[in-house]
Amino acid sequence: MCNCEKCCTFAPEMSKIVILGIESSCDDTSAAVIVDGVLRSNVIASQKVHEEFGGVVPELASRAHQQNILPVVDTALKRAGVRADELSAIAFTRSPGLLGSLLVGTSFAKGLALSLGIPLIDVNHLHGHVMAHFVEQPEGENRHPAFPFLCLLVSGGNSQIVLVKAYNDMQIIGQTIDDAAGEAFDKCAKVLGLPYPGGVWIDRLAKDGDANKYQFAKPSLPGYDYSFSGLKTSFLYTLRDMLREYGLETVEQLAETVPNLREDMCASIQATIVDVLMRKLKKAAQDLGVRQVAVAGGVSANSALRQAFVDYGKRYHWEVFIPPFSYTTDNAAMIAQVGYFKYLDKDFCSIDAVPVAKIQI
Ligand code: KG4
Repeated sequence: MCNCEKCCTFAPEMSKIVILGIESSCDDTSAAVIVDGVLRSNVIASQKVHEEFGGVVPELASRAHQQNILPVVDTALKRAGVRADELSAIAFTRSPGLLGSLLVGTSFAKGLALSLGIPLIDVNHLHGHVMAHFVEQPEGENRHPAFPFLCLLVSGGNSQIVLVKAYNDMQIIGQTIDDAAGEAFDKCAKVLGLPYPGGVWIDRLAKDGDANKYQFAKPSLPGYDYSFSGLKTSFLYTLRDMLREYGLETVEQLAETVPNLREDMCASIQATIVDVLMRKLKKAAQDLGVRQVAVAGGVSANSALRQAFVDYGKRYHWEVFIPPFSYTTDNAAMIAQVGYFKYLDKDFCSIDAVPVAKIQI
């Protein structure tokens, strides 16, 4: 037990609550088992088929989910030491995501729940990312933020500042008005000729670059909203101007001519994106008087962003929560966690539930 009000108030009176979580919103097929609030297994099958296309191909993703889902669920149950007939409920990602991908997980969850005669729990994938901070490991330190806290949710499709009042009560107080931070990372990487997913490569190359070498136009939006499209254009124009200056045609040629070009561009854009993200978050934390601050989503794997959290935490006396790397990408542990909380509240969904591609937090 973690001594929080949620699970420690309810769980002791109940006998063995076993939740199977299923995640299939994009290109990771994942299943996890949580027993009495503690994670027992978390199996993820990542799809490599998309690499050669430079992005996720929806049709290929849903086909791969179909191939993966049965072995992934089977492995998760075996690793957890749990039989299917011991499950209390099945939690699945209902939205947001690629419709064909969501359909595979939803249909599988429905079929299994129906055959076992147990409840179904639908989970908002974005709630899952935020609640990944509450996943309890069987061993080690289990720290989680106290409500209310702020969560910077940054992924390939989202850049939001979320005020988390309860596991099922979240309010977006700022969000991107155009591109997400992950999208900005990926598009800039693509322009530099780096593979997909570009954010990972920018992070890697930035380690050998000078973050002050290039300056990009930063957005100046009021309030807590973000904008990354202008930054992307500024990045593109910087390269275009250099190509003109050197009389060259391709970024490849430019990289052969300008020493450390890719590394310096990566370090500079990474520092700019992180600065934009953190300034707004700081403003929100100050205005709302919140000192518990978390980060979640794929971009939370970024080393500069993680370091910025540590630095801001020290400077502004925040208690910061940075997820382990295994919870930055899509995973079913976070889905099972929300499922566990919803199970305690008997918040089940109907067998008629259908996946939804787009939904807010
Ligand atoms: O949450 P996620 O796995 O998928 C969704 O978008 O739902 O996030 C993927 C995004 C991609 O844009 C990827 O480039 C970015 O997370 N990403 C990173 C890093 N690792 C993944 N961005 C910057 N630095 C990283 N280390």
